[in-house]
Formats: sequence, structure tokens, C-alpha cells
Amino acid sequence: MQNFPLGLIYKKSILINQFVFNEVQYKTISLLNELYNNSFNNHQFKYYNLKKWLRLIIKYIKKNKIEITTKGAYLWGNPGCGKTWIINLFFQSISSKRKMYFHFYSFILFIRQKLKILQGHSNPLLMICNQLKKETDILFIDEFYISDANDSILIGTIINELLKSKVILILTSNIHPEGLNHKYSENNSLLLIIKNIKKYFKIINMNCGIDYRNRYLKSICLWKFPLNSDAYDYMEKMFYYLSGNKLKTSILNINYRDIIVLGNSNNVLSVDFNVICGEGRNQHDYVRLCSIFHSILVHNIPIMMYNHENEAKRFLLLVDELYANNIRLIISAETDRFNIYQGKKLKFEYKRCVSRLEEMQSDNYFKSQHQYFATYKK
Ligand SMILES: Nc1ncnc2c1ncn2[C@@H]1O[C@H](COP(=O)(O)OP(=O)(O)O)[C@@H](O)[C@H]1O
Ligand SMILES: [Mg+2]
Repeated sequence: MQNFPLGLIYKKSILINQFVFNEVQYKTISLLNELYNNSFNNHQFKYYNLKKWLRLIIKYIKKNKIEITTKGAYLWGNPGCGKTWIINLFFQSISSKRKMYFHFYSFILFIRQKLKILQGHSNPLLMICNQLKKETDILFIDEFYISDANDSILIGTIINELLKSKVILILTSNIHPEGLNHKYSENNSLLLIIKNIKKYFKIINMNCGIDYRNRYLKSICLWKFPLNSDAYDYMEKMFYYLSGNKLKTSILNINYRDIIVLGNSNNVLSVDFNVICGEGRNQHDYVRLCSIFHSILVHNIPIMMYNHENEAKRFLLLVDELYANNIRLIISAETDRFNIYQGKKLKFEYKRCVSRLEEMQSDNYFKSQHQYFATYKK
């Protein structure tokens, strides 16, 4: 299991990475350590302690009742305060193989794939939960956020099942559990998830007001041109700075349709212009993107001539939506932003777009919080 003093690991990691020591991060990792070790000790004692045996028997009888103990942790805080970094550090420090780590969207994908395989069984979701219980002691889900009613039923059932077991759940989110409910107040599964999180999870506020990503982003260029290997390397580097991961092509499901993206990690999206502003995309997709990502990198914008009016229109909608939601935008393009539109129909609208893009390049805009992420403050 977990053998190392995590405080030391944290301090060492700070030194190695030349990071800034952060009291909140330090406390968080210590709390996680405690939670995991306590639960581990409980596991060990269960073979020797009569009281524990009795408790187990009672629990067996009341099989569907959840014991009121801390079953996990819910880390929340402003983007860039180090949630993903901290849980990664914690995850790596666990020497046992009985651990699982998912980004929220890959978790949903994982569950959906399993459900497909188990089609025809009477309670496939319960089978999946039982398998999870068999294979893991601790399950990490990074960037927990429910924006879909179907997802809330899946996740609600899984959380409810895991609460009845010894599995520890570690969730991270940019918002307090109460804030998860901002759109779907009529959704009962979501209300139950929130209730369960508040009842059984240690809720850790990691807000520190600092977005450490900005350390890398001082005096950077947010509109890179022309399109050459330099521009590509730059976009790759920016994606890495913002998300902590390398670009990797994958499928993203937006409003029930798949699109191919160049990178999707840690609430950062990298996508080709032809995909995000191409045929089939619309404003609803952009609204949805704003609820998932705090930074979006759009690659390879060509000079938009008369034959690109539709793409240009979508690009305008995209910029408007990102601007309204304070989302960071980084672009690689064939030419500078003043000359990127050379069509006829949207000349007037483009002037406004250029001025927005100008503001989106400013230090203030870049450092201001994603509006949605800032909606719930405690
Ligand atoms: N104490 C720190 N000092 C400097 N950089 C940090 C610190 N903590 C995290 N970072 C870096 O800041 C960036 C954002 O952290 P991350 O964990 O992705 O934030 P979150 O998941 O809360 O949005 C990452 O590149 C991470 O390595
Ligand atoms: Mg994160």
C-alpha cells in the first residue's frame, strides 16, 4: 500500500520542479494520505478484531445500508490551483496496483464501453461496480463535472454502489459540490450525488486564488503565425504547459456527435480549425465546450476567403462564446488576426471579432477566471 511520508514527497517534488510551496496543497496531500492510510488500517484489522467482524456481519445483514464513514475526498478549487498535480503525486505514491485513475470523460467512456459489452444482462451497471470493487481500493476521477442527465444516472448509481464498499473515491472539480447543480436542479440523480458527496466525502477546498499555469504564460504569444513547424511546436508546447500532457489524437463526444481532436486533457482542448469550425458544428457545440474547457487551442486557421464564409461565421460564433465565458484561446494561423478574414459577407462582424481577440490576448483576460468555474464560491 502506501508507504512513503507524503509531506516529504510533496516537498521534494516542489524542489525538483522548482515549484512554489503551497500550504493548501501540502495540507491536501496530507489529508489524502490520512484518509487512505486509515482505510488501509481498517482493512488490516478486519482479520483480527472481533468488533470489526461483528460490524461486518451487521453490515452484511443490512447489505444495502451505507456505513457513515468518510468514503472519499472531493477536492475543489480554482483552475490551476494544482488539483490534478496533487492527485497525480498521490496516485504515484501508492505502491499497490489496486488503484485506478480516470479523467471524468474517459471514465464515462469506460463505463459506456463496458455497458455495451454487457448488453443483455439484467443489471450490467451493478456488474461493472462489482468488478471495480474487485479490482481497486481507490478510484480517482479528475475533473468531475456532470452536464448530462444520462451521465448523472450512471455516476449516481456507481457512487451509490461504491459507497457500500471499501473503495475510496477521490474526485476533483473546479466547483464546490453544490455548484454541480447549477443547471439541472430538477435532476434527482444529480441531487443524490451531491447529497452523497456532502455526506460521505471529505470536501477539501483548494482555492488559493493562484492559477499556476500563468507562470508559464507571461508575455506569450496567443496568435501564432504563419503555419510552419515552429507554429506546430509552439502549439504542442502550449498544450503541454496548460494541461500537463502531450497532444494525443482522440475522439470527443460533443452533443452526442463525435469529433476528432488533437488533444483533450485537464480541461484543455486542442483542435483543428477545420474540425471545430467545419461543416456540422454549431453554436450549441461551442456552448457545450465552454462548460468543459477553460482553454482551447485552435490549430491551422487558413486565410478565410469568399469560399470560407461558413467557416468564418462559425469562427465568429466560437470566439463570441469563448469571450462570453472567459475561456482562453490560443491560435495558430496562416496570417495575423487583422488579415485572417478576407471574405466579403462578414467584414463588419470581423472588426468586432478582432477587437475581442485583442482583448482575449490581454494579461487581464488571460488571468481572469473562467466565468463558469467562478459561479460557485463558498
Ligand atoms: N505549487 C506549484 N508551484 C508551481 N506550479 C505548480 C504548483 N502546483 C501545480 N503547478 C503547475 O500548475 C499547473 C496547473 O496545475 P493543475 O494541477 O493542472 O491545476 P488544476 O488541476 O487545479 O487546474 C500544472 O502545470 C502544474 O504542474
Ligand atoms: Mg485539473
